[in-house]
Amino acid sequence: MATEIPLYHEPVETVPTDPIDRVIRYHVQTKHHFNRYARALGYLDWANQPDPFRRFVGASLISLPLLPPDKEPVSPVYDAIYQSGAVASPPVNVRSLSRFFEFALALSAWKKAGESEWPLRSNPSSGNLHPTEGYVVMPEIEGLDLNPGLYHYASKEHGLELRAEFSAELVDHLLSLFPPGSFLFGLTSVHWREAWKYGERAFRYCNHDVGHAIGTARIAAATLGWKMVLLDGVEQHTIALLLGTSRMDDFQDVESEHPDCLAVVWPSRDVRGEGLGVRGDEKVRGKELGVSGSREEIPLFLDPNVVKDVAECTWHGKANRLSGEHGVHWDIIDEVADASWKTQSQRSIISLQTYQKTPHPLPLTPHEPSAGQIIRQRRSAVSFDGKTSISSATFFRMMQRVMPRADRPQLDRPMPWDVWPYDPAIHLLIFVHRVDGLTPGLYFLARDPKKLVFIQQSMNPELSWTPVPGCPEDLPFYWLLEGDAKKLAVQVSCHQDIAGDCAFSFGMLAEFEGRLREGGAWWYPRLFWESGLLGQVLYLEAEAVGIRATGIGCFFDDPVHEIVAVKGLSFQSLYHFTIGGPVEDGRLMTLSPYGRLKREG
Ligand SMILES: Cc1cc2nc3c(=O)[nH]c(=O)nc-3n(C[C@H](O)[C@H](O)[C@H](O)COP(=O)(O)O)c2cc1C
Repeated sequence: MATEIPLYHEPVETVPTDPIDRVIRYHVQTKHHFNRYARALGYLDWANQPDPFRRFVGASLISLPLLPPDKEPVSPVYDAIYQSGAVASPPVNVRSLSRFFEFALALSAWKKAGESEWPLRSNPSSGNLHPTEGYVVMPEIEGLDLNPGLYHYASKEHGLELRAEFSAELVDHLLSLFPPGSFLFGLTSVHWREAWKYGERAFRYCNHDVGHAIGTARIAAATLGWKMVLLDGVEQHTIALLLGTSRMDDFQDVESEHPDCLAVVWPSRDVRGEGLGVRGDEKVRGKELGVSGSREEIPLFLDPNVVKDVAECTWHGKANRLSGEHGVHWDIIDEVADASWKTQSQRSIISLQTYQKTPHPLPLTPHEPSAGQIIRQRRSAVSFDGKTSISSATFFRMMQRVMPRADRPQLDRPMPWDVWPYDPAIHLLIFVHRVDGLTPGLYFLARDPKKLVFIQQSMNPELSWTPVPGCPEDLPFYWLLEGDAKKLAVQVSCHQDIAGDCAFSFGMLAEFEGRLREGGAWWYPRLFWESGLLGQVLYLEAEAVGIRATGIGCFFDDPVHEIVAVKGLSFQSLYHFTIGGPVEDGRLMTLSPYGRLKREG
């Protein structure tokens, strides 16, 4: 009798156990292809649209003053925020904190079309879904009028909800190694908000948004002459404890928050080089610790033993539910969040003393727009005119703004790159359409010149890598291919016309597999943070020269890689971006962000 030919069995996918393989699996599975988008519901479940405003029911809300632009602290001219030492630093008080949040995470407008109204914020967000939540840990500071503790920022009310009361000693202990006047700033993500619309790809978008929010917060701090650095030596469980996201009782039966990152923010010295505005005894404390003048280093971590004590403090409020029902739960998002969870801590320290003034400060002209004006007017263009071109000088200045100058000590790097404790991992593949003086075609900006050879070896060996005439010497900017790339840019950007109608668009190519294998799976979200931070710089740069930008999260991953024949997973495009002359949508009305709140500033 003939032996039976075995039946067909569906191959069983083995889920890798190594966290790095798990994040790579997520990345590959959530690529968009020409013939297949990453998995999502496929329609919008409007009945269960997530509430964009998280509140903690039972926590008291402390309103921040709504400050008109001409009320103190008044924002400096836009260019001044890029000049180290050019902005006088007010003390941390309720007014400066209000400005900080206004520019970091507040509403910046309501839009109205017919009967519908929707809010927009200082930070952009994929699909305007705003998964990012902000927190601060405040010490006792004279003139601040807030009890020491953890506060959640409520953007609709522009207020702080008291989540936990920490004793002054506990916070002092926590912050004792930071400069006087320091407070902590933390970000979390509600993955569900993005997953509701974008399904499995949502973890990427949440992390782009974290990067944008790191950018808006760093830039907000810069308008106040404050410094900010990411405390990325902290392991993630410590962030969860400190921000209360692991308190199951407070998040029972509601959408959880994923703890992303912590940063320390502190008032810098003013232009005269004097330490400024903190409570009197902090100067003494600073001296004891050697912070003011003699202290030379700050840690990029917190003492987990001190953080542990916050669990014993008095906590307030229960998180509100954001959607009635969740049609589909995307397990792969929990899976990648788990795989990229940072379990290690690094006890890294950075030098405090080194930061210098900009070597050749640009003259400040008071008639220029203020940083506040640029931040308030920032919007994503919904379409571009297909005509506006920019000068090569403007283009090169934008490229210079995104150079982190990572060969310098961290606090000597140009704002906002002084927030970022790593060498750059993101480089730009640029589609130049309308830049006067540059031949249309494909270009490349290597944000870390040390990586140039590695970049070149990871791509098509036939690309020309020609230096660009007129390009400033300090820009590692090269011409790869000549030609009209408008249609190609549109095609790979999920057929979005903005990618071709702009002056230029680009893909952010991340050093991918090598960075993950070397650093660990927790590097995966950080690659997106860096790309979001870069995007935030250019959103404002575009506004400052009278044009506009739009981030692009929807693109066909591998077709982008094929343009330059990227080898394997050496580089992956994580985020696309467009800058050009916007076309306003005349049907939309713009309303003021807090018009209905009658509160004095
Ligand atoms: C990570 C990210 C991805 C985005 N992707 C797209 C996109 O693919 N297409 C698009 O037209 N807009 C995109 N946007 C723009 C958002 O739709 C916009 O930020 C949001 O509607 C809020 O508007 P605002 O930026 O004017 O505040 C993206 C924004 C971000 C931050």
